[in-house]
Amino acid sequence: MTTGAVLSMRGVRRTYRTGPEVLPVLTGVDVDVAPGEWVAILGASGSGKSTLLNIIGLLDQPDGGTYLLAGRDVSRLDDRSRARVRNRDLGMVFQRFNLLPRTSALENVATPLLYARVGAAEREARALTALTQVGLADRVQHDSSQLSGGQMQRVAIARALVNDPALLLADEPTGNLDATSGAEVLRLFAQLHEEGRTIVMITHDMDVAAHADRRLVLEHGTLRVRRRAAR
Ligand SMILES: Nc1ncnc2c1ncn2[C@@H]1O[C@H](COP(=O)(O)OP(=O)(O)OP(=O)(O)O)[C@@H](O)[C@H]1O
Ligand SMILES: [Mg+2]
Repeated sequence: MTTGAVLSMRGVRRTYRTGPEVLPVLTGVDVDVAPGEWVAILGASGSGKSTLLNIIGLLDQPDGGTYLLAGRDVSRLDDRSRARVRNRDLGMVFQRFNLLPRTSALENVATPLLYARVGAAEREARALTALTQVGLADRVQHDSSQLSGGQMQRVAIARALVNDPALLLADEPTGNLDATSGAEVLRLFAQLHEEGRTIVMITHDMDVAAHADRRLVLEHGTLRVRRRAAR
């Protein structure tokens, strides 16, 4: 294992079993991500990118292999510990934003702090800081029905950052956005990267992936370095 890595995986496997069907999706994923790195993960539809990101994000468990997050083995934690690590060390952003409906931007962003048992005044202050960071200080009381797609994604990014996670994960964060909002969200990720955030991002968009430090492709259940000539 690489010491000092934020994320270090060896031989991670995941097979789905639905009735008689057995689908080996990840057959042996090895990857290390250094502090401050931005890694893009590419791969065909159905290749297992979301499966891998859900394992990295501790929403799902591997069938085998090891996963160290900030040096700690998180491959076989019970549900409670997994939830705690997820809340404290991970921030996740999804293609469909996943905001709580009929809930203000401020409350959406403050939710992870509620689970972390942070007091009300500090929750509000930190959520406001995070929303300011993503350029939405003037939208704190709006709920999702009153925000554009790009704004919703920025709220989701603020929510992912509010606990100052070791690792920021994103699954197609620009996939549901038009070109202009997509470019805005991409700029925000670039800014977070400049500020030293460690980012693992799934994307189909080579223009987005081009901004990352490294591009890996998920193919036949494993991750490999993307060949340069393939474009
Ligand atoms: N919970 C599940 N149970 C059974 N099969 C699943 C489950 N989740 C995903 N799969 C299957 O595993 C494979 C990989 O799915 P996954 O969602 O990880 O792909 P992906 O690379 O993210 O695709 P896309 O680019 O379309 O988002 C697919 O064939 C999918 O149908
Ligand atoms: Mg997916």
